[in-house]
Amino acid sequence: MPENQPDVLWGIVGCGWVARDYVAPAIAASGNGRLIALCDLSEPALAAVQPNDTTLLRTTNLEEFLQTPGLQAVYVATPNAHHAYVAQALAAAGLPVLCEKPLARTATEAAGMVAAAEAAGTPLATAFDQRFHPAHVRLRELIQNGDLGRVTCVRIHYACWTPADWAPDTDQGTYQNWRISAEQAGGGAMIDLAPHGLDLVQTLLDEPLTTVVALTQQRIHDYPVDDGAVIIGQTASGVLLSHAVAYNCPDNFPRRSLEVIGDLGRALAVNTMGQTPGGSLTLTRPDGTVEDVAFDKEASPFQRQVEAFAEAVHSGQPFPFPPARDLHTMRLLDLAATKSQELASL
Ligand SMILES: NC(=O)c1ccc[n+]([C@@H]2O[C@H](COP(=O)([O-])OP(=O)(O)OC[C@H]3O[C@@H](n4cnc5c(N)ncnc54)[C@H](O)[C@@H]3O)[C@@H](O)[C@H]2O)c1
Repeated sequence: MPENQPDVLWGIVGCGWVARDYVAPAIAASGNGRLIALCDLSEPALAAVQPNDTTLLRTTNLEEFLQTPGLQAVYVATPNAHHAYVAQALAAAGLPVLCEKPLARTATEAAGMVAAAEAAGTPLATAFDQRFHPAHVRLRELIQNGDLGRVTCVRIHYACWTPADWAPDTDQGTYQNWRISAEQAGGGAMIDLAPHGLDLVQTLLDEPLTTVVALTQQRIHDYPVDDGAVIIGQTASGVLLSHAVAYNCPDNFPRRSLEVIGDLGRALAVNTMGQTPGGSLTLTRPDGTVEDVAFDKEASPFQRQVEAFAEAVHSGQPFPFPPARDLHTMRLLDLAATKSQELASL
């Protein structure tokens, strides 16, 4: 991080679980940013964000938030249904936006956000923090250096337990679980969890997925959205993807693994997908030997992400992940959902 650079001044719209527990602390710890304004419809949500600093604007009014003097970058973490409206208002106000995944409920909605940012000439990015997890950065290097040989397939299992009354540990008792509302979330386990995996594959391999198809299930929980899905896909060069996501997997089961297989090596990242630093990365050779791959186990992917976005805002250089690729990921999700319905109707 360049020294003596003034902090980029951040605001947050949507101050619930991920903003309060991960991103506000990440901005506070970042080497190039400072939080100056918060906006949420809920007063208790606003009050719960640290630091307990009286100079930090806390407002339920988006118009007031937009008037914050000096505001330079905004992280959006409302439920998915509100991403488009909020991001478009921010773009119209000339503000760079780092918006949580999925960018929107549908590709059409996301396209409106991308168009608004382009029209305003302001940066827009999806907050795929897992791009910045040090294990994934290291894995990408291994792939690019040829350590795995010619990659043939990627297998991802990313799952959790999300009952109808699910709440983050820090919100027990008061939480409204919007994730099981198609209207609020745009779907269930697939739209919530698969964006991470789809983006990671494309980031690690440095090429787009061009084909996807999905099967979804409503198997364990009694709610109107999918509680599990399997997506299979293929990249432009032919690498195969098998990606399982679930809301119906008990949290104590092994449930976060990312495996990349090539003809010279198989990399396995365990417990690196998610919100926290750490996890493990191993490399298995064709002769059966297994080696641990070192990476920084303390570094927060959220902190690295906000630092990268702030650096782009400060320098005026493009964020390394342009909105067109996030829109492509939204189109893949739409395609997966459509194909799932077609398959189910055979
Ligand atoms: N990257 C990750 O690992 C990760 C983890 C969790 C959530 N997320 C994403 O972050 C977003 C938020 O998820 P969450 O779990 O923090 O949700 P949450 O329910 O805990 O918090 C959402 C907050 O947004 C507020 N809100 C709702 N509508 C608003 C509006 N129009 N304007 C301002 N505030 C509004 C709510 O009052 C609430 O405080 C979702 O898009 C979700 O998919 C990402």
